[in-house]
Order: sequence, then structure tokens, then C-alpha cells
Amino acid sequence: MELLSCVSLCLLTFIGKTFGDEIGIKIYCKEDEDVILPCSCEETLTTKRFDWKKDEKDVFLCVNGEVSPSSQDKQFRGRVIHFPHQLNSGNASISIKKAKVSDSGNYTCLCIDSAKSYNIELTVGTCPKPTIKSVEELNNGVKVQCEVHGAFLQPTMELQNSANVTIDAENTKCQNGNYCDIILQAVVTKKDFYHCVVKQEEICHQIYSEKTLVLMPSESMNRNGGEQMGLWKVAFIGVVVGIIVIAVVLFYCLYWRKRNWSGKIDGKTKGQSSAGNQQDAGTGMLS
Ligand SMILES: *[C@@H]1O[C@H](CO)[C@@H](O)[C@H](O)[C@H]1NC(C)=O
Ligand SMILES: *[C@@H]1O[C@H](CO)[C@@H](O)[C@H](O)[C@H]1NC(C)=O
Ligand SMILES: *[C@@H]1O[C@H](CO)[C@@H](O)[C@H](O)[C@H]1NC(C)=O
Repeated sequence: MELLSCVSLCLLTFIGKTFGDEIGIKIYCKEDEDVILPCSCEETLTTKRFDWKKDEKDVFLCVNGEVSPSSQDKQFRGRVIHFPHQLNSGNASISIKKAKVSDSGNYTCLCIDSAKSYNIELTVGTCPKPTIKSVEELNNGVKVQCEVHGAFLQPTMELQNSANVTIDAENTKCQNGNYCDIILQAVVTKKDFYHCVVKQEEICHQIYSEKTLVLMPSESMNRNGGEQMGLWKVAFIGVVVGIIVIAVVLFYCLYWRKRNWSGKIDGKTKGQSSAGNQQDAGTGMLS
């Protein structure tokens, strides 16, 4: 499906440009896709030669319908095919298998016998996933940052809430170049799950970051408050346990003291009574 859309885009670009000037056909493709570089020599190629070059490197040489691999650069060895059944109609297109970012560059299709050449600029891109993070707590909300590096083909980036509604932000566009970095910041004022999305119409479509829950400063304060409540609880329980322990210890102390004391009193009264008995005995003896 993606290959199809890539191919159709390539063809559209090709047709669109050939009516104007022949140079400067641009083709875009995602990494790891097969990409067709179109070229038409407008003469039957079964007994002719055509050659593809990229920055002085040999990409593909076809002589009398046969591939000549001897001079082919190792970057392209085993990765490029042509369309043998279409040589009759002058179709000198090639397909590069599993395009790499390093395949990007300017290609030239040379129809050697008719001395015509066509230039194609190929850009192979990746569709990197954006990242999201909270960067700062403000009075009115939280500043959230979306970031993407090496994004491809002038994408735009947005910060969205859980209902996919876009939050107002600046710097949502790539400034220049095919592979660009975008960093955008926006202030969110509601607790919600947020995500960043990189949008690129033709190739990457929409790439989402992870979702992240953003709490408002007041809520995170409550959360801190909650932690303090926890501490208070621990302290309260500690105090209660302390009081109970002290009460138990005091109770035992008092209990033992009371027992010892009453023992002493018992002893004293016994002594007194025996003294009384002795006295009695004395008085008895006296009397
Ligand atoms: C050449 O052949 C390929 C493969 O069938 C096709 O996709 C492409 O459209 C043709 N190109 C031209 C210029 O006819
Ligand atoms: C391809 O050629 C164009 C025009 O000459 C140039 O602007 C561009 O930088 C070249 N691209 C690469 C990848 O070399
Ligand atoms: C938001 O967009 C994503 C991707 O298109 C979709 O899966 C999800 O259901 C959407 N969520 C809502 C709430 O519309």
C-alpha cells in the first residue's frame, strides 16, 4: 500500500515535471521501501545501451537488454533491477530495493545511443517518532515540549490532548532542509493525556508520540499535600502508640509500687500486732 502510494507519487511527480523542464525531477521515498526511478529513452532499448549514474558512481548499466555488473558500484550491487519486458517501449526505469537514506542524491539516466540524459533527485527519508515531556510548571498551567529529529519532507508537528484537539503552539513547522528538527512548546491548562503528532502528507502521514499524563501545578501540590498528610498520619500513630506504651509502663509501675507498699504495710501491722502481743504478754506477765 505504501509502496503503491510511493510509486504513484513518483509517477505523478515525473509526469508533472516532464511537461515543464526535463531536469529536476524529485522523488521521495521512505527508508526500506522499493523505489522506482523513472526514465524513458523514447527508442527501443533491446539493442541499445542505457546507464544510470549517481555522483560519478555507476548504478546500473544495461547493454542490449543485458545487465553489465562489472562496473557497478558496491552500494548498488544486487539491489537494482530494470524492467526487461518494457525495453521495447524504451522504458529505462530502474527500481532500487529497500532504499537507504544514503541512496539519496542526484541520479542521471543516460540514453547513450540517442545522447539524451535525465536527472532525478532522490530523497530517502525516515519517519521518526516525536517525543513529549513537561518542561516547566507555570502559574496558569504546564509548559509541554514536543521534539522530533531528522523528520523528513517538511513535516509539521502538533501537540494534542486526549480528544485529538490541537493545542496552540509556535514553531510547528520545519524551517528548512529535507531532514529537519522541530521543537515546539505549548502551555496546557488542563489535566489530561497529551501526545505529539508529526504530520507529513505524502510519505510519513501521521506519527504519534507516546501519550503522557500532564498534571496541573495545583494538583501536584495536592499530591505533595497528600504526602504530608501521610507523614501526619505516621506521626499521629507514633504518638498514640507512645502514649499507650507510657500508660502501660506507668500502670505496671504503679501496680508494683502499690503491691510492695501494701506488703510493707502488712509487715508493719504484723510487727505492731506482735509487739502488742508481747506487750500484752508483758502486761500479762506483769499482771
Ligand atoms: C516502466 O516500467 C515500470 C515497471 O513496469 C513502470 O512502473 C513504469 O511506469 C514504466 N515507466 C515508464 C516511463 O513507462
Ligand atoms: C542535486 O542537484 C541539485 C541541483 O544541482 C542540488 O541543488 C542538490 O543539492 C543536489 N542534491 C544532492 C543530494 O547532492
Ligand atoms: C485520536 O487519533 C488516533 C489516531 O488517529 C485515534 O486512534 C484515536 O482514536 C483518536 N482519539 C479520539 C478521542 O478521537
